[in-house]
Amino acid sequence: MRLPLPLPLLSLLLLFLPANARRVQHPHLRQTALMKSRAEEVKRAFVEAFEEYRTFAWGHDEVAPVSMGVRDTRNGWGATIVDSLSTMLVMDLPELFESTLPFIASLDFRQPKVYGAVSVFETIIRYVGGLLSAYELSGCRHQVLVEQAEVLGHKLALAWTAGRGKEGRRNLPSTWMDFERDRPGTGVVSLAGAGTNLLEFHALSKHTHNATFLHLAHRAMGTIMATTQFRPGMYGGTYDPMTDRVVSDRVSFGGNGDSFYEYLVKYAHMTGNAEPVYLQTWLDGVNSAMETMMFKSTVGDWTWLSNWSNRTGHEYAFSHLACYLPGNWLLGARLAHNSTIYARGLELAESCAHTYSASPTGIGPEAWHYVPAGVSSSLVFRPSAGTKIGDMYAQRGFWVQNAGFVLRPEVVESMFYAWRITGDPVWQERVWDAFLAVKKYCRAPAAYASLVNVETTEPVKKDESESFFYAELMKYFYLTFSDPDVINLDRYTITTEAHPLLLETQEFDYGPEPEWVVTGNEEQQPLAPATPTDGCGGPGGTGMGQLMMLMDFYVPALERCSAHQ
Ligand SMILES: *[C@@H]1O[C@H](CO)[C@@H](O)[C@H](O)[C@H]1NC(C)=O
Ligand SMILES: *[C@@H]1O[C@H](CO)[C@@H](O)[C@H](O)[C@H]1NC(C)=O
Ligand SMILES: *[C@@H]1O[C@H](CO)[C@@H](O)[C@H](O)[C@H]1NC(C)=O
Ligand SMILES: *[C@@H]1O[C@H](CO)[C@@H](O)[C@H](O)[C@H]1NC(C)=O
Repeated sequence: MRLPLPLPLLSLLLLFLPANARRVQHPHLRQTALMKSRAEEVKRAFVEAFEEYRTFAWGHDEVAPVSMGVRDTRNGWGATIVDSLSTMLVMDLPELFESTLPFIASLDFRQPKVYGAVSVFETIIRYVGGLLSAYELSGCRHQVLVEQAEVLGHKLALAWTAGRGKEGRRNLPSTWMDFERDRPGTGVVSLAGAGTNLLEFHALSKHTHNATFLHLAHRAMGTIMATTQFRPGMYGGTYDPMTDRVVSDRVSFGGNGDSFYEYLVKYAHMTGNAEPVYLQTWLDGVNSAMETMMFKSTVGDWTWLSNWSNRTGHEYAFSHLACYLPGNWLLGARLAHNSTIYARGLELAESCAHTYSASPTGIGPEAWHYVPAGVSSSLVFRPSAGTKIGDMYAQRGFWVQNAGFVLRPEVVESMFYAWRITGDPVWQERVWDAFLAVKKYCRAPAAYASLVNVETTEPVKKDESESFFYAELMKYFYLTFSDPDVINLDRYTITTEAHPLLLETQEFDYGPEPEWVVTGNEEQQPLAPATPTDGCGGPGGTGMGQLMMLMDFYVPALERCSAHQ
């Protein structure tokens, strides 16, 4: 049904349409009735899991899902609660969200509740990111969320110093903080450890009106980007925060490195490419990765990356963690309108999805190996036929190095991006298969549990249930089936812990919109205008689909007008 739009409203809409609106999301996504029921089922699963956490472990970091006990792995500040807030808002569960606010207000982030050092990286991505995303998604009404994030921010800012009251600023944060004595820990910091704070600290500075946090994040990024590039845009694995020097020359898009590269392009997205160095560095890195580290397997033609060192060469391995990469490449390909990156991103997404569909449980392993095509070196390990790994390689095009599953999101995350960006419903089916597999094998006496071995259909459960199950995996399940305007990728960027943060601007300064992304003869349409609540919060998805339909009707005319400006 296409209703005519009254002219005054139409001209109002025109005012809101940014000239350079960059469309990441495919313009023709619709939520079918089936997807709506799937979204409801995911939501029920999330609520059940959270309520079981509440029953057995309220206030602790995690429920121990098998023994129905508690675990405090994130300093005892209730990581599962804080990490779940944005998921509750995304799933439109305002009462559940509000039920947690007295607990959030009661937290004292100046003191760990259990003895131990505070991880700067984990605290920023889970606690600071979780609080600020919830603040934005709940319409910037609950000031306590910002106040608590700020308490953490001031403590964490000391990781860029020699400690409270001591001389000496640092460019890179330390890995650990001692909150009791306000002292940063010693030792090296990983690339991801030093370079995963730009999105969270941008939001923190914005909402506290204190520019220091963003400044510290820029300082860390600038310092890393000034170190040795082993190829353009490719950085070492670890750094010494005392000297700013690179310590390990091992380049990896998996653990240690991953979210540094991820944030280069997401920060560009968030800020409309206000500082082009970030996107350019990301593009350099992607280009180098394609030239240096990208391989096809000799079996099955799957696309993988290696990790690589200029000194010792390649390790032909890929991991669940590194499977965030295809989604990230698809996002960046849309922003920089690069069809090569888009195509390689899709190949990698297929490869990561394959680790799930090839697994007896339907859940992929933690890490695996492959034999690279076109590499004749005798140093490359080639498993022989008749051995367990040799046969597995012959069947799948990879063999499993670590068969565990810790409720990680990355494969599903990339499938979510693939769905939202390509509009190909095959990705929704794959995510549904993954959801059913996780329900079947990970459902535990209390909530959901990690698995020791995804290679057997009677997998042993581990007594662990990371908070990112609630923050990330459940959220990406849901968002794959939800109204596509909920966390529309043209309004939000999503942090490495899957906490959505509002884009600063819907414009993106990177040349004209290309033709290649939308296949067939579908027309590109401008993003529907922002709603009044959008400036601060609300995950969206309330009636926007209707508006998009109206826009469908008017947009061709609008485009003709703007073409003549
Ligand atoms: C901003 O935050 C920094 C870092 O914690 C702190 O040193 C500074 O005093 C704050 N500035 C204001 C005006 O609150
Ligand atoms: C890479 O290795 C070569 C050969 O060992 C060396 O000459 C070069 O300096 C190295 N490059 C970097 C960036 O370390
Ligand atoms: C797209 O990216 C590839 C790989 O980084 C690069 O070689 C190519 O020049 C880029 N194309 C455009 C149009 O920027
Ligand atoms: C190399 O890659 C594999 C798979 O991604 C990973 O398990 C391993 O930790 C990586 N090694 C380093 C040193 O980054």
